[in-house]
Amino acid sequence: MDIQPISARYRGEVNAILKEEWACPPSVSRGKAIDTTGLPGFVSLEDNRINGIITYNIENSACEIVTLNSFEENRGVGTALINAVCSAAKAEKCTKIWLITTNDDIDAIRFCQRKGFAWIATRIDAIEVSRKLKPSIPLIGRYGIPIKHELEFERKL
Ligand SMILES: CC(C)(COP(=O)(O)OP(=O)(O)OC[C@H]1O[C@@H](n2cnc3c(N)ncnc32)[C@H](O)[C@@H]1OP(=O)(O)O)[C@@H](O)C(=O)NCCC(=O)NCCS
Repeated sequence: MDIQPISARYRGEVNAILKEEWACPPSVSRGKAIDTTGLPGFVSLEDNRINGIITYNIENSACEIVTLNSFEENRGVGTALINAVCSAAKAEKCTKIWLITTNDDIDAIRFCQRKGFAWIATRIDAIEVSRKLKPSIPLIGRYGIPIKHELEFERKL
């Protein structure tokens, strides 16, 4: 597995994938929209093919994981991408790394807790606000579960 920063070489493909996966830009978390098209991040490569993407945004010594996708699950891709962002965030003197997921994303909820993130907040019906900023957020998400609530996870660095 080869983890590389999202350089100009990968940017076009990354943005096309994020559009397909998350209808980005924008990404919305905590009632704020963020343009993902120029965010720093990493790709995971297997035989020169992208099989994972992570993007992040640093503000006030805190690093938000804005998007995370593994396209070959249970092989360590997600873990390697999280580790790459942790190293980058530490190098930027961040004190914590955090992310938002939604109530339907059972795989992410499990993954985050297994990776040492603490579930620190649940914002009931927050996705109603997010949909005002991003009407394309689907009503029904993973496993047929209605997407309604924001869950916040964080890990101290
Ligand atoms: C959540 C997500 C990023 C996890 O990515 P992933 O690549 O499957 O993650 P990993 O492979 O690193 O870890 C998942 C499991 O595989 C295991 N694993 C890793 N390498 C392995 C290997 N070589 N053989 C067997 N199992 C392995 C890990 O130990 C982990 O299991 P555990 O939690 O029981 O320890 C992925 O499911 C995903 O993209 N989901 C859809 C998008 C999404 O929800 N994004 C938001 C994420 S916050």
